[in-house]
Amino acid sequence: MSEFSEKIESLIPQLTLEEKAALTVGRDMWSTYPVERLGIPSVVMTDGPTGVRMAASSGDNIGHSMPATCFPTASGLASSWNRDLLAEVGRTIGIEAQALGVQTLLGPGLNQKRSPLGGRNFEYLSEDPVLTGELATAFVNGIQGEGVGACPKHYVANESETNRMFSDAIIDERVLRENYLHAFEVAVKKAQPWTMMESYNKINGEYVAENKRLLHDILKEEWGYEGIVISDWGAVNDRVGGIRAGLHLQMPTAPTAWRVVDAVNDGSLDESRLDEVVRDLLEYVFKADAAKKIGVTFSEDEHHQVARRAAAESVTLLQNDGDLLPLSPSAQVAVIGEFAKKPRYQGGGSSKVNPTRVEILYDELSAAYGNDLPYAAGYHGEEISDELLAEAVETARAADIAVVVIGLPDSYETEGRDRTHIDLPEAHNTLVSHIHEVQPNTVVVVINGSAVDLSWVSYVPAIVEGWLTGQGSGGAIADVLTGAVNPSGKLAESFPWRIEDTPTYTCFWPDAHGTIPFSEGVFYGYRWYDTRDIEPHFPFGHGLSYTTFEYSDLNLSTTTYTEGEPLEVQVTITNTGDRMGKEVVQLYIHEHESRFPRAVRELKDFAKVELAPGESQIVTFVLDGKAFAQWDTAVPGWVVNPGTFDIIVGASSRDLRLETSLEVNSTSLPKKVYTRMTPLGDFMKIPAIEKMVRDQFIARMGDGPFMEMILMFVISTPVGKMAYNGQMSEEQLQGMLDMANAS
Ligand code: BGC
Repeated sequence: MSEFSEKIESLIPQLTLEEKAALTVGRDMWSTYPVERLGIPSVVMTDGPTGVRMAASSGDNIGHSMPATCFPTASGLASSWNRDLLAEVGRTIGIEAQALGVQTLLGPGLNQKRSPLGGRNFEYLSEDPVLTGELATAFVNGIQGEGVGACPKHYVANESETNRMFSDAIIDERVLRENYLHAFEVAVKKAQPWTMMESYNKINGEYVAENKRLLHDILKEEWGYEGIVISDWGAVNDRVGGIRAGLHLQMPTAPTAWRVVDAVNDGSLDESRLDEVVRDLLEYVFKADAAKKIGVTFSEDEHHQVARRAAAESVTLLQNDGDLLPLSPSAQVAVIGEFAKKPRYQGGGSSKVNPTRVEILYDELSAAYGNDLPYAAGYHGEEISDELLAEAVETARAADIAVVVIGLPDSYETEGRDRTHIDLPEAHNTLVSHIHEVQPNTVVVVINGSAVDLSWVSYVPAIVEGWLTGQGSGGAIADVLTGAVNPSGKLAESFPWRIEDTPTYTCFWPDAHGTIPFSEGVFYGYRWYDTRDIEPHFPFGHGLSYTTFEYSDLNLSTTTYTEGEPLEVQVTITNTGDRMGKEVVQLYIHEHESRFPRAVRELKDFAKVELAPGESQIVTFVLDGKAFAQWDTAVPGWVVNPGTFDIIVGASSRDLRLETSLEVNSTSLPKKVYTRMTPLGDFMKIPAIEKMVRDQFIARMGDGPFMEMILMFVISTPVGKMAYNGQMSEEQLQGMLDMANAS
């Protein structure tokens, strides 16, 4: 029951069948259908998620939208690992949405990074479902706190762009639950997004747009989702099937309402099902309309400062040999690279915002030094020439330090297309190697939205991952380079050495039938590299600071934990350096003996703390039973396996500082049921049965290696089969079953 329920119940009988059908399809590119005679308004939605992309006309006009603040893309924001920051960016976007007359913002993107090749990785947060879910929750709460709906997307398993309209993700249920649904589940349970965008693709042969299990059974019934499901733009294949399944709104407009009308008239769609969909839709429409604020304005300056701060916290210091950074104020710094003057700060496609202004790294750095720094373009786009190279080399040689800005051009990263490799343009790599030959004090700033191969990592002393950090990126990167901001970003995705090392190297691309086997299972991202012991270029969670942090006193509220209770984990973090800094503290678990294959480490929580030099803070994490659980397809449900787990706290997935262990008692492990199909070996785990079986074997063939070998042969044989083949009698079998089931 909501404040609108009564009104909605009185409206439904007044709506004609045609009006009800019309409500389930968009009016145009960005708004819902109104029914003016009954006072049902239209609501406006727009992309997202790096800012408000409010179309300047009713068409889809990427690049021609109303000016709005352009924030870092998701891969940047996620590198902040800062829930408060995500909430603040969400709030700021919410205010702009109100000012621009938008009631729902299409974002954030919660798909997982199975491969660095994913064309929209820049729009997605992480390769870790826990980090994704937590940051998404903060972002959604931030937007919705301003009375604007959020729309997590693309639900679900749309992890690549190739053939996205018909690719078929073949995923087993445990992998789907633990990895691809997890972030959506967290966002639904903790933030109740007003809307959710389903994806284009199929899962296990069925389009998500018409998949009742995903859209209704799991989302609504299991998770208690109260909002509506919107199709991705053009994802609908069968509008009537979608209504049955729980797809509330088809977007954008399409002439499909008559199909719904016909289906009700010919009896193939129950009108009461249509009413349920309309009821949810009206709830959303009235809520969004009531939350509309008239006359909202915003200060472009203030919002720009939020964008710049967010960018600075996203920037990640990957390498800093010999403390080359921060730049010495007295050094002669040369700036090399076209990106320093012609910035790339966002990705291509539907998320492209028309920024209110754009900061230029070269200008910001020059301003910090109080004079125009020496500059050379070094390359144009992907091209390099002898002249450009010679000029860049001379400029770098004449300086004390060269800051070289390189990265992926626009054409490399965009919606609708996956990358085919992780290389930077050859021209950019050539530039770095030539500059380094004449200037050992080389700092490389990389601009990209997803992991790349930094082939010169072994000899370039300082590397700054600048991401695609929005309109404030120029100032933000300058602040990190000069030390005005102490970097605190940490990678939310692993950087592999080679594409061949990545978890989905053999299973990322759809095959001739559009099938994508998610055969890496639960092992993607660091869960793959750490379990396989494959050294990444830079690991998940890695990022340096200009100060240092010490971890001490890892304590648990109990060392024997029972599922269902809260488990408190405390650790003390101390700033042992000489400047203020922020540290991202990461909590991982390791299960000693799991029932199902499990990564050697899984992130379960994180916190970001700011500490003055010498200051210490106790960080407290609270885990619940779900942190230890795996999805058991036979139950089906979340099951905690009793046994020993390690609780590990670290500064990255590979920089593990403290560890302690814990005995976990389960309340969810189902009692084992022994049947005729249970193998003999399982019975033999019960000591009394083991003795009985052994005695019988010994009686038949004597004790010794031969008997042991025969026992080995039969241990995996179902007992029913043994009885059928005369290896035991039916009475013996029944006795064993009774004993085992009573144990
Ligand atoms: C994208 C969505 C986007 C929508 C509207 C689709 O192609 O996949 O993320 O929100 O277009 O622009």
